Amino acid sequence: VARAGGTSPTSWDRLWGSGLLGCPGILGSCSACLSPRTAQKADLSGEAAGATINHSLALIHRLQELLQDGNTSDTTLRVRTAGSDEVKVFHTHQLLLALQSEAFESLLHNQTMVTLHEPADNAVLFEKFIRYLYCGEISILLHQAIPLHRLASKYRVSMLQRGVAEYMKSHLASESSQGHVVGWYHYAVKIRDTGLQESCLQFLAWNLSAVMGGAEWATVSAELLVLLLERSDLVLQSELELYAAVKEWLGRKQPEAPVVVKVLRSIRYAMIPPSHLFHLQKQSTVMVRHYGAIQDLLFQAFQFHSASPIHFAKYFDVNCSMFLPRNYLSSSWGSLWVINNPARDDRSTTFQTQLGPSNHDASKRVTWNVLFSPRWLPVSLRPVYSDSVSGAIQSIRIEDGRPRLVITPAMTSSDFAGVSFQKTVLVGVRQQGRIFVKHAYSFHQSTDELGDFLAHADLQKRTSEYLIDNSLHLHLVVKPVYHSLIKVRK
Ligand SMILES: *[C@@H]1O[C@H](CO)[C@@H](O)[C@H](O)[C@H]1NC(C)=O
Ligand SMILES: *[C@@H]1O[C@H](CO)[C@@H](O)[C@H](O)[C@H]1NC(C)=O
Ligand SMILES: *[C@@H]1O[C@H](CO)[C@@H](O)[C@H](O)[C@H]1NC(C)=O
Ligand SMILES: *[C@@H]1O[C@H](CO)[C@@H](O)[C@H](O)[C@H]1NC(C)=O
Ligand SMILES: *[C@@H]1O[C@H](CO)[C@@H](O)[C@H](O)[C@H]1NC(C)=O
Repeated sequence: VARAGGTSPTSWDRLWGSGLLGCPGILGSCSACLSPRTAQKADLSGEAAGATINHSLALIHRLQELLQDGNTSDTTLRVRTAGSDEVKVFHTHQLLLALQSEAFESLLHNQTMVTLHEPADNAVLFEKFIRYLYCGEISILLHQAIPLHRLASKYRVSMLQRGVAEYMKSHLASESSQGHVVGWYHYAVKIRDTGLQESCLQFLAWNLSAVMGGAEWATVSAELLVLLLERSDLVLQSELELYAAVKEWLGRKQPEAPVVVKVLRSIRYAMIPPSHLFHLQKQSTVMVRHYGAIQDLLFQAFQFHSASPIHFAKYFDVNCSMFLPRNYLSSSWGSLWVINNPARDDRSTTFQTQLGPSNHDASKRVTWNVLFSPRWLPVSLRPVYSDSVSGAIQSIRIEDGRPRLVITPAMTSSDFAGVSFQKTVLVGVRQQGRIFVKHAYSFHQSTDELGDFLAHADLQKRTSEYLIDNSLHLHLVVKPVYHSLIKVRK
């Protein structure tokens, strides 16, 4: 009630009184959007002659002009830029500010001139922000997302807050010279937006190679690095590539010893071939310096490489994640498979991987047969052919089938004992000219274990976002997992 007394009646009176609202003619000459659109919608409930007269665009245009000219303004905002003498002055209307922003509503209820203090990147956007309050529309660029979200949060414009957060989630893959996802992640943590945090983490995990190679890597916080290193779904060339990037990060950031140790202990040394490992422990200065804190892990890794999996598991109570492979792209772990015209018919391919990451197995090869069916029907749905002439056989058509991928070993071998092979298929899509991982599907042998494999891919449509030059980009990864580890994941 206090609010109604404070703002609404007087402001409305002035707006109506000024003739700026409601009365065409004063400003009604210039732009195309002023031409009235009259939607001739039949009114279903009443008479046939009912219609909607729609001048909403013209109204929005008027409101914008109101801000530009400052006519009938009842409130002056002075925006001071922190660390400079710059002051921006806006002649505004209390009613319109209060309508969208709870913060302005309470700030303005007893004053007509307010000075606001804003950091430079907020101040730059202030005009856009105020304009949004008048017309509900705003354009946004990658580097403006955080300051704009900050403004929307500070002045409690909840619709704009949600809009910017949505924009961020849908523009993770956009091209930017310095990278933006790491910055957005840190911002999401600060404002406790767990949805945005999760989206950023996922993007970083699945595109780690690109991130590690870019300027963004140096801006990763210790907390974020530790979170990433815990994940088994990181997509990258090899654990050695990860070690190199971590080493570079440590060199730049020079964190305290506990952070260094925590980070170094998150590397999965067993996934690095022993010859490289041997090299590292002698040559990598950071490892040499902190050798005492990680030598138990290195020792275990060397033991792991010198025995068969079964033998090893008998003697070692292993800490699981160290022996779980991540999604490695290098050729000993899997293969890229680009399927041209994937909607047409069944395709097959073969590829080879090492039997396991243990040096005991690394020279042994396993050949895998892969079958991709664009329209596979589970047995229960297949048509039953009968001799009956009644004709009405089945309503199920081949179009009802769903994509399916099966990966099986070409041979059986006693060497497989103690190991099961988890398969992961990474699906690449192209966004803004670059390929990135859209999905990662993990299964044992066939994607019908999952139920949602390429469920929304629309491969029949040429315009499907999953098709890059009419091809489906898959990367198949085979991860040997030791039976003693299977009960524990991630
Ligand atoms: C009025 O016109 C605007 C702009 O053309 C449109 O977005 C809006 O949906 C229309 N409203 C109605 C009720 O038809
Ligand atoms: C609004 O301001 C403009 C420019 O300052 C002026 O030309 C116009 O007459 C004003 N309109 C009204 C209704 O006061
Ligand atoms: C406006 O009200 C707030 C508290 O509601 C008070 O702190 C402030 O001094 C008032 N300002 C003026 C100009 O009266
Ligand atoms: C094994 O895991 C426990 C906690 O789960 C941890 O305290 C311990 O340091 C780990 N040992 C090694 C060798 O990583
Ligand atoms: C995402 O990762 C894939 C490989 O995992 C890489 O080819 C691609 O360039 C990356 N995309 C972006 C936008 O970083």
